[in-house]
Amino acid sequence: MAILRIPSESRVIEDADLIRSFLLKHGITYERWAVAGRAGGDATQEEILAAYAPEVAALMQQGGYITADVVNVTPDVPNLQEMLDKFNQEHRHAEDEVRFIVKGSGIFYIHPEDDALVFSIEVHEGDLINVPAGVRHWFDLCAERTIRAIRLFKEKAGWTPLYTGDGIASSYQPLCFGPNYLAAKGIHIEQAVTIAA
Ligand SMILES: [Fe+2]
Repeated sequence: MAILRIPSESRVIEDADLIRSFLLKHGITYERWAVAGRAGGDATQEEILAAYAPEVAALMQQGGYITADVVNVTPDVPNLQEMLDKFNQEHRHAEDEVRFIVKGSGIFYIHPEDDALVFSIEVHEGDLINVPAGVRHWFDLCAERTIRAIRLFKEKAGWTPLYTGDGIASSYQPLCFGPNYLAAKGIHIEQAVTIAA
């Protein structure tokens, strides 16, 4: 289940419906897909794509995507940090960044064009997020450094990071550490119940 954080306001939102409506205001789609009884994170790419074929097909039709694959990142991937360093600096893409998380987790920081309010969305198994083309963002893994996700593309070349040159990412926590880490540090996570208009 996703966690949305607005660091400048010390706000944390964990309710899926509230997260969905918050993100929609920024043009970002967030959905929860049912995972119970379906191919797990250790299944093959083919099994995963087959298991989620109805949702994937619907998204393809809605968004004009033509290909789907499953990315698999684990701590023992060669040159993992080098790979992560491509995406943990603020960038845009000419293509939507569409991800459905099958295993592990990651964190997207979003820097909206219309205001300076940076927020992050931590995604976990069952979370679908679509960061539209042109939206400033950066991404990092969580502490377990593992993510398996379905990706949808119109054209893979369009997913090349276009860096903004803004060093803003260094002002934010570089990783998501999860509730257990935060609790161990004595950091309180509050349940936000309202969203400012
Ligand atoms: Fe990206």
